Parts: sequence; structure tokens; C-alpha cells
Amino acid sequence: MRLQGKLAVITGAASGIGRSGSLLFAEHGAHVVAIDRDQQALDALKTEAAMQGLTIEVLQVDLSNAQACRQALQQSVGLLGGLHIFWGNAGVVGPAGIEQLDEKAYASAMDLNLTANVLMAGMAITQMKHSGGGSMIFTSSISGLVGSRKSPVYAITKHALVGMARSLAIAHGPDGIRVNAICPGLTETAMLPHAMGRGVDTEAMERNRAAHIASIPMGRVADAIEIAKAALWLASDDASYVTGVALPVDGGFTCA
Ligand SMILES: NC(=O)c1ccc[n+]([C@@H]2O[C@H](COP(=O)([O-])OP(=O)(O)OC[C@H]3O[C@@H](n4cnc5c(N)ncnc54)[C@H](O)[C@@H]3O)[C@@H](O)[C@H]2O)c1
Repeated sequence: MRLQGKLAVITGAASGIGRSGSLLFAEHGAHVVAIDRDQQALDALKTEAAMQGLTIEVLQVDLSNAQACRQALQQSVGLLGGLHIFWGNAGVVGPAGIEQLDEKAYASAMDLNLTANVLMAGMAITQMKHSGGGSMIFTSSISGLVGSRKSPVYAITKHALVGMARSLAIAHGPDGIRVNAICPGLTETAMLPHAMGRGVDTEAMERNRAAHIASIPMGRVADAIEIAKAALWLASDDASYVTGVALPVDGGFTCA
């Protein structure tokens, strides 16, 4: 029980990494509000939690809308009665290159990957001050640590999250608020085929995936739960002196 009594908000919580994290945080005693735009997947999460004897509150929100982000954070704090943990996890791959930029996909990636986190983190800080401190985590990526040949916009947003974690860590250390970024390598979720296969056929996607795996020292992609466990550590008091860190959870990919 590493999060007993903690009040937590997780975004992008109905699938993949966020879903594993929501269940894991609840299992460790946190009161969790899971935010996502996919109502059906949220319902399934709530049902699975109930089957495990856990309670997770769910909120259906499209976080690419600024006003909806503000309302979601406010509503979450209302449901929880405070806030100790904010995990800004929702993200999309965004457009491929920036020649002939798909401006709609660009705006969506900026809105969700970046602006939603800025807005919600800002409000979360105020709440955490009232709670006497807290832990904030942003899901960045290996593309927040090194460049991405195929997804520069994604890498821009993920590098920005690392910059935000470091900046907020400096500014809010005195408030007892720790702020860290988690940088997963390729993880087996719904996003993965999209990341490997935008605009190419299945065969090319498999080739991309195999080529990427060949460059991972551990020789495999991550399971979502392996990323969630790292987030659990960052969220918990076990990481009480850890702030401003961009933690790779990548099977060694960024060592090479
Ligand atoms: N899967 C990977 O290989 C990988 C690697 C590094 C980082 N990441 C990051 O991990 C995070 C989680 O991704 P995942 O792999 O679990 O993907 P996923 O597709 O399984 O989950 C993403 C979730 O975000 C939700 N979402 C998307 N747009 C939304 C919006 N506008 N408003 C609210 N919710 C929205 C989706 O409904 C989905 O439930 C993302 O930030 C992603 O960039 C993933």
C-alpha cells in the first residue's frame, strides 16, 4: 500500500499506460479519478476496478479543449476533496514530418500533449499547496530525451514536458511539490501500431517495429504495467527526494 489515502488524478486513463496506472494506484490505496475521452473504455475500467474490489471515479473529457481541461481538474478535486498526485499521461503521436504539415494533427498534438498538461498542472499546483505538497508526473517519452526522425512534433511536445517538469520542480520544491517526467520506450499499447505505422502498410509497420526493437538493449518492448510501476514509485513517498528527473523506462534504448 504505497499510496494509502492519497488523492490522485490520471489523464489518458482508459487505455494502455494510464489504465494500468489507474488500477495500480487504486490497488495501492489511492483514491483515483481517471480522465479520458473514451466513455466506453472508462466504463470498462470502472467495471474491472470493481471486480478487483477497487473504486475508481471516471470522467469523460476531451482534453484537447482548454476549458474542458480546467473543468475536469476542478471537478476531480471536488470528487476527491483535495489533490496529492497529478499524472498528466494523455498523449497522441501527432503528425509525421513537418513538410506539408498536417496543421490539424499538429494543433491536436500541441493541445493534448502540451497545453492540457500546462493548464491542469497549474491548477494542480494550487491544490497541492492546500494539501501541503504532492507529486506530479508527466508522461514524456524517449522522444523527450532524443530526437525522433519520424515524429518531430511528438518529440517537440515530449521534450517540452521534460522542460516543464524541471522548471516546476525548481519553482515548487519549496512548496513540497515534486515534479518528474517519465520517459517510456516503446510500450505495447493501442498507440504502438500508430507510432510504427502512420501512412504505411502492415508489412512496413512490422519492419519499423522490428528495426526499433533491434536497437533496444533488452530486445523487447515494455508492458504498460512496467511503466505504471515506475510512475507508482515517482508518485509515492519512496521517491521523497526525487524531483526534476526525466526517468527513462526504456530497456536501455537511450544508453546507446
Ligand atoms: N506506447 C508507447 O510506445 C509510448 C512510448 C512513450 C510514451 N508514450 C506516452 O504514453 C502516454 C499514454 O499512451 P499509451 O501508449 O498508453 O496509449 P493509449 O492509446 O493506449 O492511451 C492513450 C489514452 O489517451 C486517451 N486520449 C487520447 N486523446 C484524448 C483526448 N483528447 N482527451 C482525453 N483523452 C484522450 C485515449 O482515449 C487513450 O485512452 C502518451 O502520452 C504517450 O505519448 C507511449
